[in-house]
Amino acid sequence: MKIRKATEKDYGVFAELTEKNHSYIVGVDKWKMMKVGTGYKKLAAQNYIEDVKMHDGVILVAETKNKIIGCAVATLSVSSELIKTKYKKEYLKTGFIKNVFVEETFRGQGIGSKIVGELEKYLKEKGCPTVHLEVFAPNTNALKIYNNIGYQDHSRILIKIL
Ligand SMILES: CC(C)(COP(=O)(O)OP(=O)(O)OC[C@H]1O[C@@H](n2cnc3c(N)ncnc32)[C@H](O)[C@@H]1OP(=O)(O)O)[C@@H](O)C(=O)NCCC(=O)NCCS
Repeated sequence: MKIRKATEKDYGVFAELTEKNHSYIVGVDKWKMMKVGTGYKKLAAQNYIEDVKMHDGVILVAETKNKIIGCAVATLSVSSELIKTKYKKEYLKTGFIKNVFVEETFRGQGIGSKIVGELEKYLKEKGCPTVHLEVFAPNTNALKIYNNIGYQDHSRILIKIL
C-alpha cells in the first residue's frame, strides 16, 4: 500500500470515495437530517478540489495493486493582515484535515491513521503548528480512531431541532 498525492486522473475515483464517505455519514445521522442529493458526488468532490487549490492544500490517496482504496484532504487557513500585525507569527497558519475515507474491506489495517499522519507532515512542513479536524458526533468509530492518534476535543458545535 502506498500513499501519494492525487492527480487529475484520480479525481473520478476521489469523487466516488467522497460520495461513499457522505453516505456513511448519512447512515450514522441519528437526526436523519442529511441526505445524499442528486449530483452531490461531483459537487462535493469539486468543492474539495477547489478548496485545495485556493488554500495551498493537498489530496492524498491510498493505493494498493493500482486501486485507490482511501483518500483524505488537507487545507490551510492563514490569518488576516490585521491579526498578523497583532499576534505572533507562529499562530498564523492552521491546518485542516477533511474527507478522510477508507474502503470498508480495508479498514482496521492502519491505512486511515497513515493517511492522516502524511497530511500532518504536509501541514507541518507548510508551517502549521496545529491541525483541526471536524467529526460528526454520532460517528463514534472515527472519533475513537482520531483520539487514538492524538486528537482531542477543542470546541463543540451544538444543534437543536426546531
Ligand atoms: C475513519 C476511517 C477513515 C479510519 O480508517 P482505518 O483505515 O479503518 O483506520 P485505522 O486502521 O488507522 O484505525 C482503525 C482501527 O484499526 C486499528 N489498527 C491500526 N493499525 C492496524 C493494523 N496494522 N492492523 C489492525 N488494526 C490496526 C487502530 O488501532 C484502530 O483501532 P480501534 O478501532 O481500536 O480504534 C475509516 O473507518 C472510514 O473510512 N470510515 C468511514 C468514513 C468516516 O467515518 N470517515 C471519517 C469522517 S470524519
